[in-house]
Order: sequence, then C-alpha cells, then structure tokens
Amino acid sequence: MSIQGKHIIVTGGGSGVGAKTAKALAKQGAKVTIMGRKETPLQEQCLPYQICDVTNEKNVEAAFDVVRSEYGPIWGVIANAGAAKSLPFKKVDQAHLQSMLAVNLIGVSNSFRAGLPDMLDANDGRMIAIASTAGLKGYAYASAYAAAKHGVVGLVRSLAIEIASKGITVNAICPGYIETPLLDSAIADIIKKSSMSRIEVEKSLIKGNPQDRFIQADEVAEAVLWLCSNGARSVNGHAMALSGGEI
Ligand SMILES: NC(=O)c1ccc[n+]([C@@H]2O[C@H](COP(=O)([O-])OP(=O)(O)OC[C@H]3O[C@@H](n4cnc5c(N)ncnc54)[C@H](OP(=O)(O)O)[C@@H]3O)[C@@H](O)[C@H]2O)c1
Repeated sequence: MSIQGKHIIVTGGGSGVGAKTAKALAKQGAKVTIMGRKETPLQEQCLPYQICDVTNEKNVEAAFDVVRSEYGPIWGVIANAGAAKSLPFKKVDQAHLQSMLAVNLIGVSNSFRAGLPDMLDANDGRMIAIASTAGLKGYAYASAYAAAKHGVVGLVRSLAIEIASKGITVNAICPGYIETPLLDSAIADIIKKSSMSRIEVEKSLIKGNPQDRFIQADEVAEAVLWLCSNGARSVNGHAMALSGGEI
C-alpha cells in the first residue's frame, strides 16, 4: 500500500510545515488538498485548496464536504494549523487561553472529526496532528500554548485507542523549534519585549536542543510521510518528538 491516489488534507498548508508536508505528500502521488484562512498563501503552493478556519466547526465540516465531493473520500488528515503567542502567566487571560485552545486543540478535533466518516467507511486512514515539544513538557511564557498542545497529545492518545480496530491510526508529531514564519514572529516578539539581539534570541532558543540547531520543516514532512506509510500501520497513539534529544 502506498499513498498514491489517496486524498489527504493538510490544514495550515499555505506556509511553513504545512506547505512542505503537502508538497512532500503530493510528490509521492497523494491527492493533497490544503486549507487555511488566507487565499494568497494557499494559491502560491500550486495545490488544490479550500479556505477554512479550523476553529469554526461548521466551516470545517463544509470545507471537508466540498473537497470530498471534488477529490473523493478523505484518507488522511494532517492537522497542522496552529498559532503561538508567548505571554507571562499574569497576562494569560481567558481570551488568550481560549484563542490558543481554539486553533491548536479544537482545530485539531474539528479537522479529525470531519475526516473520520470516510476513514470509517474505508476501514483505513491516517490522522496526524502536528503538536509540539510543548505538548510533552512546559516552557516559560507558553502556558496557554503548552496547555493546548498537551491537550492535542491527550486527544491523539485517546482517539487512537477508540478507533484502533477500524484500520485508522492516530498520532502526534512533537517538534522543537522549527525554522518557519511562526518561529520568525516569535523571535520578533521576544526582541521587541527584551533587550536581546536576534542572534541572542536564536541562541537562547537553540540551546534547548542538544543538537544545537533548529528543526527544519522537511524533517517534519518526512515523519508525516513515514506515518502515512504501510510500514507504520501499527504505530498508533504515539507522540513522536522531533527535538534532537530535548525530550
Ligand atoms: N515553528 C515552530 O517552532 C513550531 C514548533 C513546534 C510545533 N509547531 C507547530 O507546527 C504547526 C505549523 O506551524 P508553522 O511553524 O509551520 O507556522 P506557520 O508557518 O505560521 O503556519 C501556520 C499555518 O496555520 C494556518 N492557520 C492558523 N490559524 C488557522 C485557522 N484558524 N484556521 C486555519 N488555518 C490556520 C496559517 O494560515 P492562515 O493564517 O492563512 O490561516 C498557517 O498556514 C503549528 O501547529 C505549530 O504549533 C511549530
């Protein structure tokens, strides 16, 4: 079994990890649909796309219905859409917590649930969440983001058991800092709030990784490809760290 011809949705596919992953899947012959809120970055990937806000359940269901009718039953969902904002806990009000949970946790749940019926019908499928090392350990100034990503890991572990007998696997990938637009804006934010230079900020983030480097988006894409392979069919309910040994 290969992913040739399989319909796979990648949320947040217009940039960073999502764009790299979508291209890697398409290169292996999958029918890939990317989703996100902004049209221009989606268009730039030259892949079929659908506008979708993963925080909105009805919007996700409608978007999945459109692409299902255009490109066929959904075999895989890569729930990658996410956002990060760091704040000291005294500033983590309910609105901030809700916004982090909405995109990083509820967005994953909405996306998995919208793809589930086709996978149950086929007795086959893959669900992969791009979580974070912040789903496995804490980081200062990231309590809301880490709470959401820990939630994703809990969701994945539970759903994996619930549907294990249905030929569907559910896993999370937990990378450390990856060089993407999301990291760029996090670095810019830290520079603004501290007296550190860009190099100092980068050094302070890199030092958490024993390999002394940022993760690259193509490493995440390769992990997704492997989890989609037939050889990984018994890998289920895992939270796979890509962190150079940080965790
Ligand atoms: N970069 C890192 O250091 C790092 C480390 C560990 C884990 N991660 C995780 O990796 C994933 C990908 O992040 P990235 O680094 O590739 O960042 P990115 O380039 O900023 O990509 C995030 C994507 O998510 C989409 N998105 C955001 N909110 C959305 C919403 N409500 N509905 C639909 N799409 C939405 C964005 O598109 P629109 O704005 O157009 O919607 C964008 O394409 C995220 O889940 C992130 O938490 C990143």
